[in-house]
Amino acid sequence: MSLSKSADAPLLQRAKNKLRRMLGPWGVFFTGFLKHPVMVGSVIPSSRFTIAKMLAPVDWDNTKLFVEYGPGIGTFCQPVLDKLRRDGTLIVIDTNPDFIAYLRRTIKDSRFHAVHGSAADVAEIIGSFGFDHADYVLSGLPFSTLPDGVGPAIGKATGEVVRPGGAFLVYQFSAKCRDYMAPYFDRIDQGFEFWNILPCKLFWGWKAEDKS
Ligand SMILES: C[S@@+](CC[C@H](N)C(=O)[O-])C[C@H]1O[C@@H](n2cnc3c(N)ncnc32)[C@H](O)[C@@H]1O
Repeated sequence: MSLSKSADAPLLQRAKNKLRRMLGPWGVFFTGFLKHPVMVGSVIPSSRFTIAKMLAPVDWDNTKLFVEYGPGIGTFCQPVLDKLRRDGTLIVIDTNPDFIAYLRRTIKDSRFHAVHGSAADVAEIIGSFGFDHADYVLSGLPFSTLPDGVGPAIGKATGEVVRPGGAFLVYQFSAKCRDYMAPYFDRIDQGFEFWNILPCKLFWGWKAEDKS
């Protein structure tokens, strides 16, 4: 008698798959956390309150390119696509190949591009789509647990790609990211969202308008 493939799978893997199916997108996120706890940095996606507050200051009429670092299972992606111009582009970048595969499978929108890579390479990544700057960059990266040197490199790379008048939008459990933003942004606004697990800090790093 031949055994089916699923019967061959180790018990733990089958249990994980079952849990993932039961929990849907949250299961994909939770499994991602179990595999890479330090890189993912959170067990539950951001709340709708965090999404609304973080995106509130965005000038959507003047947004041609919106970039997101660390989209996970895409908690922010649909809300961004709902507001983005019809000729706009959303590029999301994540180091976790499982999340990127999930996003490519579930988000069917010609304005949307999911890239497997590091936020530190944002200039090269947006360049491969024909852009030399972004209007806004959003980050859900766990800055306080990233490997040494990665946070400052991402702050610098982001400072170089955001256009004058644009902004770097960051939500975090700690204020560590502010240190990485401060050298490259002219003004940093700060907020707080209680209705999130855990409650989080919000930062908007603005580049001054080009006066020339
Ligand atoms: C806390 S999760 C963010 C989840 C999602 N944005 C949300 O709001 O629910 C952090 C994400 O950052 C990704 N990540 C970690 N380091 C990264 C890096 N250097 N570049 C891009 N993504 C990274 C992880 O794989 C994970 O998907």
